Amino acid sequence: MSKILLTGATGYVGGTTLDQLIKSTEPSLKSLTIDTLVRTDDQAQKLRDAYGARVNPIKWVGLEDTAFIVDTAANYDIIVNTGSGFIPAGALAFVDGLARRAKAGGPAPWLLHIAGCTNLADRPLTQEAYPLREWDDERDAGAIFDFMKEADALEPYAQRTTEVGVLEAAAASGVQAVSLNTPLIFGEGTGLFNRAGLVIPISMRYIVQHGYGFKLLDTANFDYVHVVDLADLYVLLVRAILERPNRGVGFIPTGREGVLFPAVARVLMTEIAQRCLDAVFSAGVLPRDGTPQEKEIRQASLQEIADELMFGLVDVAERGWAGHKAMKGTVARKLLNWKPTRLEEAWRQEFEDEFVALRDGRRGITLDACIGIRTT
Ligand SMILES: NC(=O)c1ccc[n+]([C@@H]2O[C@H](COP(=O)([O-])OP(=O)(O)OC[C@H]3O[C@@H](n4cnc5c(N)ncnc54)[C@H](OP(=O)(O)O)[C@@H]3O)[C@@H](O)[C@H]2O)c1
Repeated sequence: MSKILLTGATGYVGGTTLDQLIKSTEPSLKSLTIDTLVRTDDQAQKLRDAYGARVNPIKWVGLEDTAFIVDTAANYDIIVNTGSGFIPAGALAFVDGLARRAKAGGPAPWLLHIAGCTNLADRPLTQEAYPLREWDDERDAGAIFDFMKEADALEPYAQRTTEVGVLEAAAASGVQAVSLNTPLIFGEGTGLFNRAGLVIPISMRYIVQHGYGFKLLDTANFDYVHVVDLADLYVLLVRAILERPNRGVGFIPTGREGVLFPAVARVLMTEIAQRCLDAVFSAGVLPRDGTPQEKEIRQASLQEIADELMFGLVDVAERGWAGHKAMKGTVARKLLNWKPTRLEEAWRQEFEDEFVALRDGRRGITLDACIGIRTT
């Protein structure tokens, strides 16, 4: 039986992916035990309590412990690397471990990686803007990798360094690696720990706190995917490896061509702010004393947004909140029959749900704390 390891079980994507893998009734998956790397005993216990023998938590220090990762990875046939995609050395250590296994002559080992669409974004406020650029994972297979590699040589960006490095090292060492380069992820996760995405909760909180939304650039865009649809795609990839002849080798694109886009639809960043405003105004939380009485999206400066929302990381703020990163995902639908089901209606509903999650204290911050002293 194939040995599977998953990282990120305590996170939004990894937790949901683990949950979907375990809940799957497919014959190839339903009796599989999945090993997970976690950092605390409490996390391990919670996973065991929920999933019993289907999950085997293993304690680790984290992605910084590369020697441990190499030794551990060498024991697996499939690694689903859905934890942080921002630590190149840790991700490369998984490839090194799998390469050791490949050299030992076993079946071709697989790494299913996660990255994000900011790897493709321009920096339109400080460098040349490409507002009309759109990448297609079928038409531009190979070119996407080449673009990211070239861009990263000029200006390293940790998540991109990781994605390019993993695909390249894997191709050079007999490891099969494919990366889901992911757009904005929305929807409530189904894992046991973090169940929230990033962009919409951050936008919602900003609006509740300030009383208005912000924009950096009118044309800034994002594609989106629901977290469960994304997890379903990881499940399809694992199934293809377990079920197909030759374990999916030659079928699932890998290496230079192994960047897939799990993208469903595209919006402007201003639409996200507008939908958050609509949710907060219709809940009656805005307007309040001292805030604009009408829904407003104000121009903000890059530095202000980097400082307030992105830990001072100007480049990450620019790629995410100002950047153009349009992606068309074709390959997963054609090849794996991926059929995302949480589409526009789920997207619209998301803003009401996120407001309720914030109001009910499920986003690590209460509404009172969000609004601060201004209402008292
Ligand atoms: N969320 C999005 O909207 C989005 C969009 C595009 C791409 N992505 C990609 O998806 C990845 C996962 O995102 P997420 O939303 O699932 O994040 P998340 O909920 O914050 O989860 C992050 C996971 O990574 C683990 N982790 C973080 N730093 C680590 C370290 N140094 N060593 C070991 N484990 C570490 C965390 O484990 P602990 O609990 O032990 O800290 C947790 O399991 C991101 O890094 C990014 O590359 C996310």
